[in-house]
This record gives sequence, C-alpha cells and structure tokens, in this order.
Amino acid sequence: MMSSETLVLVAKRLEGEVALITGGASGIGESTTRLFVKHGAKILVADIQDELGHSLCKELGTPETISYIHCDVTSESDIEKAVNMAVSKYGKLDIMFNNAGIGGEPDEKVIASGIDNFKKVFDVNVFGAFLGAKHAARVMIPAKKGCILFMSSIVSKICMGLPHAYTTSKHAVVGMTQSLAVELGEYGIRVNCISPYAVITSMFHKTTGILDKKKGEEVAKAAAVLKGTLLEANDVANAALFLASADAKYLNGVNLPVDGGYCLSNQTLKDYFITSC
Ligand SMILES: NC(=O)c1ccc[n+]([C@@H]2O[C@H](COP(=O)([O-])OP(=O)(O)OC[C@H]3O[C@@H](n4cnc5c(N)ncnc54)[C@H](O)[C@@H]3O)[C@@H](O)[C@H]2O)c1
Repeated sequence: MMSSETLVLVAKRLEGEVALITGGASGIGESTTRLFVKHGAKILVADIQDELGHSLCKELGTPETISYIHCDVTSESDIEKAVNMAVSKYGKLDIMFNNAGIGGEPDEKVIASGIDNFKKVFDVNVFGAFLGAKHAARVMIPAKKGCILFMSSIVSKICMGLPHAYTTSKHAVVGMTQSLAVELGEYGIRVNCISPYAVITSMFHKTTGILDKKKGEEVAKAAAVLKGTLLEANDVANAALFLASADAKYLNGVNLPVDGGYCLSNQTLKDYFITSC
C-alpha cells in the first residue's frame, strides 16, 4: 500500500510550472508556497517580510527551485523586478498568485473611517494586485498561456461588519478578476479569484483582536455553517492549487468560495422570530 507521501509524489500537479506568490512568506501565502513546492512548481516568493521569506525558501529547497525577493506590491518597479526575476531565473511565469493583502484599521463606521487608511488598503489589496496582474500579463501574453489568481474574501459576497475599506477592496478584486478574465481569455490566460471564510493567520489576529490561536479557532468553528471541521490555510492553498492546475483548464472569471457554505446562510430573520416570539 502506498503512503500518503508517495501518493502526493505520483500526483504532482504543477510539475515544470513556475509560480510567483505575493505575500508568500506567511499565512495562506506560505501554505500555498509549501503546497506548490510539493507539487513540483518552481517558486518565487515575493513579500516584505524578508527574514520569514528567506528562511522559508531555505527550508523548502535550493535557489534552483525556490527563491525570495523583497517586493512591496504597491511599487510598480518592485513588481516589475519580481516578474522579471521569475523569468530570468526559472525561464517563464505560468502562475501569478496575487495573494498579499492587509486588513487595515478596524474602522467599522463610515463617518469614523480614515481616508489614509482607506487609500492604504486599496493600495495593497487592489492596486498591488492590479500591478501583479499587469506585469504577469506582460510575460504571459507572448507565451499565450498562464494563470492569474487573486485573493478576495467572503466579504465580496456578504456584508459581515468588517471595515468598509477592506470589504470594498475585496469587491474590487472580483471586478478586476472578471474584467481581466474577459480581456486575457483571448491569449489563453485564465484569471480567477478565491474567497475564503476566516482562517487563523496573523491577519485574523490583527483584524479581530483575538490573539489566542485556540480562541480564534473556537470562534471560527462556532460561527461556521460547516461543522466538525476547521478552515485552515492549507485548505485555501488547495483551492489555489486546483485553480492553477490543469484540472481547472476551463475555469475563467470565477470567484471561488472556500467558505463551507457560509455565504449561503442568513438566519437573522429566523433568529429574530425565535427571540421575539
Ligand atoms: N485570514 C483570513 O481570514 C482571510 C480570509 C479571506 C481572505 N484573506 C486574504 O488572504 C490573503 C492573505 O492573508 P493572510 O490571512 O494569509 O494574512 P497574513 O498577514 O498572514 O499574510 C499576508 C501577507 O501579505 C504580505 N504583505 C502585506 N503587505 C504587503 C505588501 N505591500 N507587499 C508585499 N507583501 C505584503 C505580508 O507580509 C504577509 O506575508 C489576504 O489578501 C487576505 O485579505 C484572509
């Protein structure tokens, strides 16, 4: 009988592919980096957390298979350099995962929301993702193939009281996915995005103020629609793997929820009847 490790090895789904992952040094990006490496991809991790990025790459391979570059996604020259490095080091760019993101300040009320914060969140989550797509397209169009992935969120599907800047930025990411999917489809480039439910990462801790991992997991489980399990960064990485692989060869312009059905549920009316009757 084959071990699970052996099964993974015989089913490498990104063998020979080259991927650039922004925000790839921690959280969901880190899990995706780990999973893509297991599946045979060569990876360029682009992040602003240099120490984490370098140590992750050292742990996962050699410079022939995985490297780190300091890249602030809000800087066009940083993104341009990162895309050029992927091509010069590994020969091409097949997968661009625009995953880097920030939650911004916890401004929940519109009249108390800071303009600078709103612009900063858009700068990273929308403009940064746009720059990633623009420079990926620059090298993918001549190759007439490629896969661009964006990271959205369930807040692109439902309003759950998170700050307006973050919610609006993730809606913009979906719009960008659809708009680019139509333009770039002509060149055989697929563009999709992922919308996860809560994952316990450093962003979750910062956004919710829940600093204890166990407590975060309890809250996420209790609020989830799908019971008996917990959404982990690796589950989102698996969605990215699926969208990046040939298994999703005809998926284009999709906003894939990884939410255990959370966005389908709205029981406020029922709860209101229960509490008021
Ligand atoms: N954690 C969740 O519950 C959740 C849910 C839905 C969507 N998301 C999205 O997933 C993505 C990853 O978030 P995460 O939860 O793994 O958080 P995280 O904070 O662990 O990871 C975000 C990464 O982005 C990097 N980053 C931030 N600003 C950057 C910049 N200007 N340039 C380059 N890199 C930058 C950070 O250094 C970090 O490595 C984000 O886009 C986030 O909005 C997270």
